[in-house]
Amino acid sequence: MTAALALQDVACTFVSKDQPGQRYTAVQDVNLTVAAGEFVSVVGPTGCGKSTLLNVGAGLLVPSTGSVTVFGQPLAGINQRAGYMFQADSLMPWRTALANVSAGLQFHGVAERDAAVQANDWLRRVGLGGFGDRYPHQMSGGMRKRVSLAQTLVLDPDIILMDEPFSALDIQTRQLMENELLEIWAAKRKAVLFITHDLDEAIAMSDRVVVMSAGPGSRPIGDFTIDIERPRDVAEIKTSPRFLQLHQAIWEVLREEVLKGYQQQLKAA
Ligand SMILES: Nc1ncnc2c1ncn2[C@@H]1O[C@H](COP(=O)(O)OP(=O)(O)OP(=O)(O)O)[C@@H](O)[C@H]1O
Ligand SMILES: [Mg+2]
Repeated sequence: MTAALALQDVACTFVSKDQPGQRYTAVQDVNLTVAAGEFVSVVGPTGCGKSTLLNVGAGLLVPSTGSVTVFGQPLAGINQRAGYMFQADSLMPWRTALANVSAGLQFHGVAERDAAVQANDWLRRVGLGGFGDRYPHQMSGGMRKRVSLAQTLVLDPDIILMDEPFSALDIQTRQLMENELLEIWAAKRKAVLFITHDLDEAIAMSDRVVVMSAGPGSRPIGDFTIDIERPRDVAEIKTSPRFLQLHQAIWEVLREEVLKGYQQQLKAA
């Protein structure tokens, strides 16, 4: 079957701003696929190139070498089949929650009234029915994340790219959002590429967890199938024997890379 998203032999090299002429290869030899309907997480030490890979999948960054295909077609320019939820809050402060969610539809030519109906529907689905007239500064961090989620999903993308979407949330809100995302995903079965540095979250959410090595020249060094049945409750499955087994096996691969990544950041500083 054709993958929803496939990165083949991808490398990304950046030119240093401070020392022109110096080059830094963030990732190399990356082969990564996400099947249609598959939920794949990527974990790895800070600075290893996770966001870089997501940018490549979104078409925001052209890799130095290698190729990207989207449902079998070579990717050129922005990935129109993908929705992107950024690491940082990306709501427009001058627009209400409703206007933030409907903006993307309107850019795509949907009439204002239809866009508002769909936006309202999605706000309801993420638990924010009745909050459509709030501005971002009138909402909590968790509510803003829900708006971002609605903003991404309202466009009904075939591929969902998420960069540590819940890492800034408190643990309870986070678990609520994770369960919500899993429910929505189960209903729609889109391809998801999910970046996180939280191994528990990666295992709880995913069909597959890919481990990246520390940079420079970071690459996938582990690929684990998460054979835990669905539907899952992200809080409950963390105590199941299979979860603990998988956690131990993946952590074995990840641990050393996290230490290496940390040492490298200290050196760079
Ligand atoms: N535009 C750029 N120019 C120069 N270097 C870059 C650029 N983007 C990323 N890098 C470097 O590439 C490496 C990978 O960065 P990236 O943001 O992808 O890491 P990450 O795994 O997402 O980290 P984190 O877990 O902290 O979010 C880092 O060393 C970073 O400094
Ligand atoms: Mg990142």
